[in-house]
Formats: sequence, structure tokens, C-alpha cells
Amino acid sequence: MEKPDRGLHHLLGIDSLTDRDIESLIERTLELSNGAPASSASVTTANLFFEPSTRTRVSFELAALRLGMRVINIELEKSSATKGESLEDTVATLAAMGVGCLVIRHPQTGRLQQLAENLHAPIRLLNAGDGQGEHPSQALLDAATLAADGLDWSQATIAIVGDIRHSRVAGSNLKLFDRLGAGRLRIAGPEEMLPDPPGIERVEVCHSIEAAVRDADVIMMLRVQRERMDRAGWPDPDQYHRRWGLNPAHLELARPGCRVMHPGPINRGMEIDGAVADSDQSLILDQVRMSVFARMAIFEWLH
Ligand code: CP
Repeated sequence: MEKPDRGLHHLLGIDSLTDRDIESLIERTLELSNGAPASSASVTTANLFFEPSTRTRVSFELAALRLGMRVINIELEKSSATKGESLEDTVATLAAMGVGCLVIRHPQTGRLQQLAENLHAPIRLLNAGDGQGEHPSQALLDAATLAADGLDWSQATIAIVGDIRHSRVAGSNLKLFDRLGAGRLRIAGPEEMLPDPPGIERVEVCHSIEAAVRDADVIMMLRVQRERMDRAGWPDPDQYHRRWGLNPAHLELARPGCRVMHPGPINRGMEIDGAVADSDQSLILDQVRMSVFARMAIFEWLH
């Protein structure tokens, strides 16, 4: 994969990627998903997750193993972080032992960027989600999933619906879909879950799910981020589902064959009807399948 020589670099967010990086990463993800041989890397990577994860942590591990890398999963509650060690000192300690890559999920928005700016150790940082900031590898795998499904970016209307304000997936995906030239980008959700400002200038803000999904080619549903809201802001699941949950009738408003996406984990009966999540139009498990290839491409790109 073509990669400019910029010395040690990281995957922190979409803005830190050049157009060529984005093109190469998506192209390589698709090649790998079509059976191209993977390169091998004699590097050790570690997973350090300060928040729960199934998809991201496991797929980063599988991706590394498929590239012949060694993987260490750090159990946070048994680590010296519990004794007050700073994240900076933990990273320097792991680098001193020869860990070459560190996949971090952290609840604080911007923590990875801050860490990278003050980093003196030879270790590459991968942002696996920072607070309400970014989840760049999710955006890349989502874009690769859509590319594999034949989406014509310039003609596409993409609607992202749900808790946009607290979602790092929305943060990265809106930036990436904008960079990829998506025809129309829409967001929709309850007023208190909409970002202010919306982040990307040309995003259309819709105030109903019906308005968002009308003639859409892609509908991406997002979970309400309970962990980032105070209890006063937590909606009743049934009420939420009635107003903002994606159901089969909504698909009738969208373009025929409209793709349904969700980064997971899904809350069936809240932001998405189980019948829609399991329908032929759903790409949810395609996203999961693509996640391993996207993260392999990311590891290759980093080295
Ligand atoms: N999409 C995603 O980040 O899922 P996990 O929280 O399970 O990693």
C-alpha cells in the first residue's frame, strides 16, 4: 500500500488522514476482504480499553493475529492504572517492553490526541473511540462496507439517525462521508441529542425520522449513549422507539434497496426494530465482517 514517509504516525481521527490515506485504506480493506494475501508484521500490539467493547476489541485482535502479530489484552482492573499510574506512564512502560502498537478506547474526548502530542516513545496509537470524539476505524470499515456494496458516493443520500451528539461514530463517519463526496448528508434525532453546531457545514438537520429517511440510500441508526447522559436525559425506550426507532414502514419512504447500518451494539426495539436489523437490507453483520479487514489494513498502513 502506498504510504508517504512521515515517520512514526498514529490513527487518531479522520482529519489526520490525507485523501490518499483514505483511498488506500479503503482500497486495501476491499482487497483483503476479497482474499488478497496479507503482509506479515513482527510487531506486538496491545489492547487497552477503558470502556467496554465487543466488536472493536475482538476485531483488532483478530486483525493482528491474521497479520502474524503478537497481541496482548491488558486487563484494566488488574493493571497498575488502578494504583494511580498515568496513561502517559503506562504507554511509555509498554513501549519500553517493545510493544509497537497500542489500541486505546478512552472515555475522555481528545485524550488520544493529547497523548500523541506528548509522546516520546516509539509506539503507534490507534484510537478505538475517545469519549464523544472519534472512532476512525469504525468510519473506515463503514465506508468500505458501503463501497463493497456498490454505493455511488456522489449520488448517495446518507441519513444518520439517533444520538448524534454523544456518538463518536457520527463524529468520524460524517467527516469521512463528507471527504468521500457523499451527495447529501442528513442527521436526525431528539433535540437534546443533536450536536450544536452539526460539525460538517453541509449537513442537513432533520427533525423527524421520516424526513431523514425519505429517499435515502443509506440509513445509519445509532444507539442512545446512556453512559454519556445524565439520568434526567435518558428517554423511555418505548417512547423513543415510537418517535425515533427505525421500523419497516420507514424503509418504504427510502429509496428501494436502501441499506440499513448500525455500528452496534444494537438495542432492538429502541433505536431499531428487530425485523429491520435482520432484514435483507441490513448491512449490520457485513460491517462486522468488514471490521477485521479494515483493521488489518490499518495495521499494515501503520508499519
Ligand atoms: N462499534 C463498536 O465500537 O462496538 P463495540 O463497542 O462493541 O466495540
